Amino acid sequence: MDPSTSGLSQKLAKAGQLHLMQFWTELSPEEQGDLVQELQVMDFQEINGFFKSAMETSGSSKQEKMDARMEPVPREVLGSVTRDRESLKDWELEGLHCISQSKVAVLLLAGGQGTRLGVSYPKGMYDVGLPSHKTLFQIQAERILKLQQLAEQKHKVKCCIPWYIMTSGRTIQSTKDFFSKHNFFGLGKDNVVFFQQGMLPAMDYQGKIILENKGKLAMAPDGNGGLYRALGHQGIMGDMERRGVESIHVYCVDNILVKVADPAFVGFCVQKGADCGAKVVEKTNPTEAVGVVCKVDGRYQVVEYSEITLATAEKRSSDGRLMFNAGNVANHFFSFSFLKDVVEKYEPQLQHHVAQKKIPYVDAQGQLVKPDKPNGIKMEKFVFDIFQFAKKFVVYEVLREDEFSPLKNADSQEGKDTPTTARHTLMSLHHRWVLNAGGHFIDENGRRVPAIPRDGAAGSVSDAGTRNLKDGTDLPIKCEISPLVSYGGEGLEELVKGRDFHPTLMIDENGVHELVKNGV
Ligand code: UTP
Repeated sequence: MDPSTSGLSQKLAKAGQLHLMQFWTELSPEEQGDLVQELQVMDFQEINGFFKSAMETSGSSKQEKMDARMEPVPREVLGSVTRDRESLKDWELEGLHCISQSKVAVLLLAGGQGTRLGVSYPKGMYDVGLPSHKTLFQIQAERILKLQQLAEQKHKVKCCIPWYIMTSGRTIQSTKDFFSKHNFFGLGKDNVVFFQQGMLPAMDYQGKIILENKGKLAMAPDGNGGLYRALGHQGIMGDMERRGVESIHVYCVDNILVKVADPAFVGFCVQKGADCGAKVVEKTNPTEAVGVVCKVDGRYQVVEYSEITLATAEKRSSDGRLMFNAGNVANHFFSFSFLKDVVEKYEPQLQHHVAQKKIPYVDAQGQLVKPDKPNGIKMEKFVFDIFQFAKKFVVYEVLREDEFSPLKNADSQEGKDTPTTARHTLMSLHHRWVLNAGGHFIDENGRRVPAIPRDGAAGSVSDAGTRNLKDGTDLPIKCEISPLVSYGGEGLEELVKGRDFHPTLMIDENGVHELVKNGV
């Protein structure tokens, strides 16, 4: 098809995007067909509008610091696993009750590109090197299975937690294939619902769409806040309504510790009558680059570290904790009716954020260029952009070492949020579960490993001190407990109480195994 006769050229010219055709005559008929197909479905007026308002918003927000308009989360909307211990059991029972009535769904944000991790497949398929070699998807699926089982046992009814999985155009097929190949990890096939978020083109600073090769636009998913538009476009709200879902737990694929459909969090939000809730971890270091949940001009939102001054970031309350310490971990509760309102009414009000990126492009001579500094933008909405619309917003504070350890970077980059840190935090948590249930570990010299590790986050002490990590902390004891055995540390006493174990310890549905005797 010739674009000049199909009207496409006029459409592009009108939108100031005619350069997308500059290599037309050099493309094969197949490449021409693909390009026309891609361009025909695009709404350039809308995309240009997104660019204009995103650039305007990012320009104004850069100058203005938020400090004077911010208030911390008030205690009355805050639930805390450490400060409200006496209510925890109640919340958990409430949540389990809702689950038993099949009123709770989970919604996984898995449409990201995982650029920093740098693998060619979806992040959920990543194996961080646990003794079981389970992938993130499998760990999450098994937590759902276990929770269904716990709710069924408690309430003597069959129940189901539907799992909605948001992917992008780039990842949907491989994600679906992976689940099929693994038989949905034991979950009912009909209760795992895949849907696809939208994509937007990357643009240069003048608003011209970037070509990643002569016949292809540089496209990227429209951010995890693309969720709301996708839910509407793909009929997901209707599916939830048919199933009678009343509460939705939304979380990110990369957090290996995520308590999927956490009954205590769900129960807390339900008991408070909340329409929207955010799980947070305490920010302890003023300069940590994490967004904090707080009120701005009386409405809840996440304020990024870059939007406040150091003086505000360093402010402390009378208890010595940072005043703005509610670290956002993209882990949320929504009531069905709130989510429906967002999808149907509020979504168009959400602005795209601008992320400056190094975007590979073809230059006017048709040469591929990999820029070494940012040359354009990607436009993204964020999942938490909708807090402002909540009528009853609550915050639920949990311990980072128990619930938050995201996989962002490759091991080759060393440092934070790598496969190694993800693996270590999970094994360290499971080690603590064994200790809490009355079990012990024996080191290579046959001595009991002391219960208190040299560093809380990095697990336990190896007696000889020879297996230290680079940061001076110790390698964790190798210990993994299948989610099919325990969702959150429960039910382990009968398996471990009073017993001594040699790492590697594996507890799974087939029993308790010591995989390597005399080795840590
Ligand atoms: P990140 O912003 O950390 O992005 O996503 P990412 O794709 O995992 O990694 P980088 O930045 O490319 O290295 C946080 C969560 O939001 C999801 C991701 O899948 C992850 O669960 N996400 C992100 C989406 O679902 N869609 C998006 O467009 C972006």
